[in-house]
Amino acid sequence: MISAPVTLEREEFHFIRDFVYRTAAIVIDEDKHYLVEYRLAPLIEREGMPSFRHLVSELKQPSSGPLRSRVVDAITTNETSFFRDSRPFEILRRIILPQLIEHRRYSRTLHFFFGGCSSGQEPYSIAMLLRNHFPEIDDWNIRLTATDISGEMVRRAREGLFTQFEVNRGLPARLLVRYFERAGIHWRICESIRRMVDFQEINLTRPLNLGKDVDIFFLRNVLIYFDQTERCRLLAQARDVLRPDGCLMLGAAETTVFSNDFFIPLPVEFSNLFYLKGTPSPFHLPPAEPHQ
Ligand SMILES: C[S@@+](CC[C@H](N)C(=O)[O-])C[C@H]1O[C@@H](n2cnc3c(N)ncnc32)[C@H](O)[C@@H]1O
Repeated sequence: MISAPVTLEREEFHFIRDFVYRTAAIVIDEDKHYLVEYRLAPLIEREGMPSFRHLVSELKQPSSGPLRSRVVDAITTNETSFFRDSRPFEILRRIILPQLIEHRRYSRTLHFFFGGCSSGQEPYSIAMLLRNHFPEIDDWNIRLTATDISGEMVRRAREGLFTQFEVNRGLPARLLVRYFERAGIHWRICESIRRMVDFQEINLTRPLNLGKDVDIFFLRNVLIYFDQTERCRLLAQARDVLRPDGCLMLGAAETTVFSNDFFIPLPVEFSNLFYLKGTPSPFHLPPAEPHQ
């Protein structure tokens, strides 16, 4: 028997919109009614609920913690890929990391923080890049802290299992061969890379429990979902946990959402990298090359 499709009434849409904003600071525009309906309908079916009204009344119960997480999971956009946008990784490899490594030659420590890491391709890309190109730091104390609000994404990232489609997107074949092994129809990232990344379920709207020891704060393709107040608050947190010569990296489309008093951008040809206002630029930049 084919069941009737569940429809999302306006009032329920507004409740869910406010709930998602209160929980994850994600802004859902008024015209995204269809998107919320589309993303939550499968959840309603999986939960065996008869309607959106039922979902809303469950969300209002104080004991609805796990359901709340599942709703946020279903609403968030988890789009990601290995070496996403490629150029930022090239800039890191050629210009930023060699200098950062030189700056840290005495402490021999590096700490990279990833906000909104989705299923893990971004921190794993950095881990592979470090291992593949900087063998001289193999015995350093390197911390990659990768976080996401979605419990499901964090679980997947920790597992380190990727589909053929996922490894086909952005991962060079030589890195696939070097750092992955077949696991049935999937590919599993090797243990030495997997162990480098500490995945944690963290909501970026809550205070970050970090010391002031972060060298690069990756916040790529996350700010776009927040409003200006929340962006500023999060950028203030990034400022507070960065070392004085550390830097912030945003996503390719995020220059326009970025306006605050805490950071100075590097010239645009060096990707979306920012250093702390009031400090000298931590990196010596070569003359710009034409963008290929
Ligand atoms: C589009 S993905 C970006 C993934 C990766 N940074 C990249 O650029 O490929 C955005 C991620 O941010 C996460 N996210 C959204 N709101 C969040 C919040 N309040 N706290 C932590 N993570 C959040 C989502 O779950 C999603 O996985």
